[in-house]
Amino acid sequence: MGFRSKFENAEKALTFNDVLLLPGWTTLEPSDADVKTRVTTNVELNIPLIASPMDTVTEAEMAIALAREGSLGVLHRNCSAQKEVDMARRVKRAEAVIIRDVVTVGPDMTVAELLSMMEEHGIKGFPVVEDGGELQGIVTWRDVRLADSSLRIRDVMTEEVVTGNEDTEIDEAMKILHEHRIEKLPIVDKDNRVQGLITMKDITLKGTFKEAVRDEQGRLLCAAAISPFDLPRAKALDRYVDVMVLDVSHFHNKNCFDATKKVLKEVSADVIVGNIGTYQAAEDIITQLDGVAGLRVGIGSGSICSTSIVTRAGAPTLFATSQVADAVKDYESNIPIIADGGMRNPGDVAVAMAVGASAAMMGNVFAGCRESPGRLVAMEGRYYKEYYGMGSAKARQKRFAQDRYSQPSKSVNEGVEGWVPFRGPVKEILDEFTGGLKAAMGYVGAATIPEVWEKAKLALITEHGARDAAPHDIFRPGPSRTI
Ligand code: XMP
Repeated sequence: MGFRSKFENAEKALTFNDVLLLPGWTTLEPSDADVKTRVTTNVELNIPLIASPMDTVTEAEMAIALAREGSLGVLHRNCSAQKEVDMARRVKRAEAVIIRDVVTVGPDMTVAELLSMMEEHGIKGFPVVEDGGELQGIVTWRDVRLADSSLRIRDVMTEEVVTGNEDTEIDEAMKILHEHRIEKLPIVDKDNRVQGLITMKDITLKGTFKEAVRDEQGRLLCAAAISPFDLPRAKALDRYVDVMVLDVSHFHNKNCFDATKKVLKEVSADVIVGNIGTYQAAEDIITQLDGVAGLRVGIGSGSICSTSIVTRAGAPTLFATSQVADAVKDYESNIPIIADGGMRNPGDVAVAMAVGASAAMMGNVFAGCRESPGRLVAMEGRYYKEYYGMGSAKARQKRFAQDRYSQPSKSVNEGVEGWVPFRGPVKEILDEFTGGLKAAMGYVGAATIPEVWEKAKLALITEHGARDAAPHDIFRPGPSRTI
């Protein structure tokens, strides 16, 4: 094959701004569209939006808020394994009706130590147990907030503890909590050893989030990023997470494939792999890696990516999604595709679905929300939150996720640092995006996401057309938001 034919055979790597959805015949009101989806072969979501594993996007607070609304945030891995496990644990504890993984304290701990534990775990009451696990008392914020910080827990705890056992039903637990005007009910076995904890807060929250996505024990679903090369971290997280995302920038790589085979054997969580961008990559995964439960797709389209500028390599998310979707279809696989990077508007999500995505992963959009970990700053009268790429110098300084990117030289950064407008609570963003997605489905005439795959037709537009398709010839002040 001659070199000139490389131009002739070049793929058209189209991206969001290159296309529009063609309106189709519809019998559907947008409000009737159903946006439920699968993010892995086994895990369903009520909202097809996922927050990226980035340290300015998803920590426990974002993950909890999203799971409560029916979507998912992937905990980032740019921290120690212990910190990531703690985040996952926090998500799992957020709404368990019976907390199984109870944090207890010993009677000899000081009040000062307890206060810092309260801060660290975000918990305001602990069962007090002896070495053998036998319940001695209970200590809460009210017992210690004004106590001398050098006192021991045994001096301030409440010794007479009302307890339940494994047969205690939720209704009965509520009655006991109310009758005794208490907040926490330890569940003990016949030897008075703590087996679980029921809290008033969890019971009252139970009915609040009707769309929440939960595991079979009623706990919120949790997803976390891992490196294919860090099996101990994967194993430590496996106890707490339902979904693991093998998080590298170019997964179609022999070392990644070899390491992933081991991960797939050792963990029980559903494993999503990525990122990939071509038919060939998807085909190799489907034919060589048994047990992969999801594909994360798109290379170099993220708003903070500089990969395609620095290296001239990339597979724009829309193009990549269509490539991978064809491989999935050709092999009659049912692995869901997560389109990742570059989506700014609900219509971008709809277009990604038109070419086969089951869900959309976003960093930029979620980074601006109140629940993201990034710093909030005011600049020239407007609020912004910090957002940077995981391949940027700032993220790489932390050194934990360095293996996401190939590092031929210390000076190659594949991401940039900046600020995004503050957007308020994530629930508002989810409402805006699901509303927009349903409206797009209304235009397409699709009642469900699989119907979008079938029915959506695309039109290509030129650069001029893209300008016309956006608001134009009108002065509008920029986005601004107060807290
Ligand atoms: P958005 O457009 O939502 O994209 O901000 C988020 C996605 O971008 C990817 N990501 C990066 N890609 N260099 C890259 O080339 C980076 O530094 C970087 N950080 C994140 C990632 O897939 C994320 O979900």
